[in-house]
Amino acid sequence: MSSQNLPQSPESPESSESSARPEQRRKPRVAVVFGGRSSEHGISVVTAGAVMRAVDRTKYDVLPIGITRDGRWVLTADDPARMAIADRQVPDVDQLAESANGSVTLSVDPGNRHVLVSEPGALPRELGEVDVVFPVLHGPYGEDGTLQGLLELSGVPYVGAGVLASAVGQDKEYMKRVFTSFGLPVGPYEVVRPREWESDRPAARKRLMEFAAEHGWPLFVKPARGGSSVGISKVDDPSGLDEAIEEARRHDPKFLVESLLRGREIECGVLEFEDGPRASVPAEIPPVTAHDFYDFEAKYIDSAAGLVPAPLTEEQTAEVRRLAVEAFDATSCEGLVRADFFLTEDGDFVINEINTMPGFTPISMFPRMWQESGVDYAELVDRLIQAALNRSTGLR
Ligand SMILES: Nc1ncnc2c1ncn2[C@@H]1O[C@H](COP(=O)(O)OP(=O)(O)O)[C@@H](O)[C@H]1O
Ligand SMILES: [Mg+2]
Repeated sequence: MSSQNLPQSPESPESSESSARPEQRRKPRVAVVFGGRSSEHGISVVTAGAVMRAVDRTKYDVLPIGITRDGRWVLTADDPARMAIADRQVPDVDQLAESANGSVTLSVDPGNRHVLVSEPGALPRELGEVDVVFPVLHGPYGEDGTLQGLLELSGVPYVGAGVLASAVGQDKEYMKRVFTSFGLPVGPYEVVRPREWESDRPAARKRLMEFAAEHGWPLFVKPARGGSSVGISKVDDPSGLDEAIEEARRHDPKFLVESLLRGREIECGVLEFEDGPRASVPAEIPPVTAHDFYDFEAKYIDSAAGLVPAPLTEEQTAEVRRLAVEAFDATSCEGLVRADFFLTEDGDFVINEINTMPGFTPISMFPRMWQESGVDYAELVDRLIQAALNRSTGLR
C-alpha cells in the first residue's frame, strides 16, 4: 500500500512511532468497523459512510476498517462518498479495500492498541493507536458479543453494548427470559432447542401443537438468533408448520414459536447520557403489506416509513419510554438500544425485542426518533463516542 492511499490522518505511517509518544497530544482516533459476515453487510457499509461523514474531524481522527463478507479485516479509504447505494446496489467492503490481499489486526495484547497492517511479501507494520472502536455492524459476529469479546481482550473501548448485553440482544430466547425475570411483559412463546428437535421431533411437534391449541393460529416461527426478518414465517395452520421450521432452522438450529400479537408496532430509542439512559420520543411502524411497499433503499434502510412521533396518548408515550429504559437496564445495555414493542388491542405494551445496534443511517428509525427528541445525527455519533471513551473495558 502506498502512503497516499492511507486513510486521512495527521500521522503518516512513517510518523506513527513518534505519535505513540505519550507527550505528543493528538485527537482520539476512532476506528469505524463495518461490513462483516452477516446478511446486513451492505447496509452496514452504507451506515458506516454516514457515521464517518458525521464524525467531527476537528475532535477525532477516523480509521475506517472494513470486514469482508468472509471475515477478513481490511483498511479502506476514508471516502464516505463511495459507501452509498449506487445503481440500486449496496456497497461492498471488497470493492473499498485499499489492497487486495492486505489485512489489519487489532492486537489482543491489552497493552498494545496499535493496528497491525500485513501485506503479502512485506513485514507487518504498526499503524498508530486506536482509542475507541465504533462497530457499525449488525447481526452475527458484529452485534452478538463476539466482536465485543475481541475488543475486551484488546483493551480498546467501544461504542454500544458489551459482551453480555450484545449476546442477550441477539438471542430471542434469552432476551425474553431476561425481560420476564425483570417483570417486562412478553408475548406467549415456545422454544425448541437443537437437541430436542434432532432427537425427538414428535415430542417437540406435540408441544408446539399444544401451544397452538392454547394460543390459536397463526403462529410466528423464528430463528432464535436472526435479524431483519430473515427466516421468519407466519404460519396459518398445522400444514405449514414443518416448512416454516425448516426455513427458520436454515438460519439457526434453535427456533421459537410465538403467537400472533394483534396491535400496533411501537419503537423507542434509548441513549446513554452522562446522567444515565434516556428514552427518545417513540415511533410507530405502520403495517407493511406483503408487496414491495418499501422501495429498495427504504427496505435496506429499515422502517423509513415509520411515524415519528408515534400518535399515542401522553400516558402511552410515558409508559413505552419507561419500558424502553427498563429494557436497557434489564439487559445491562450501554450506549444505545432500540426497544420494539407491540401495543395490543387491549391497550397493553408487550416487548418484542431490543436491537443493540439498530438501523443507524440518518433516515433509520433510531436517529429519526432522536432527531425528533432534539439530538441530531452528528450529536448522536459524538455522544456514543464520548460514552465509549468515558468507560473502560473489563468489569464495570
Ligand atoms: N408475535 C408476533 N406477532 C405479530 N407480528 C410479529 C410477531 N413477531 C414478529 N412479528 C412481525 O415480524 C417482524 C420481525 O420480527 P422480529 O421478532 O422483530 O424479528 P427481527 O429480529 O428479524 O427484526 C416484526 O417487526 C413484526 O412486524
Ligand atoms: Mg425486529
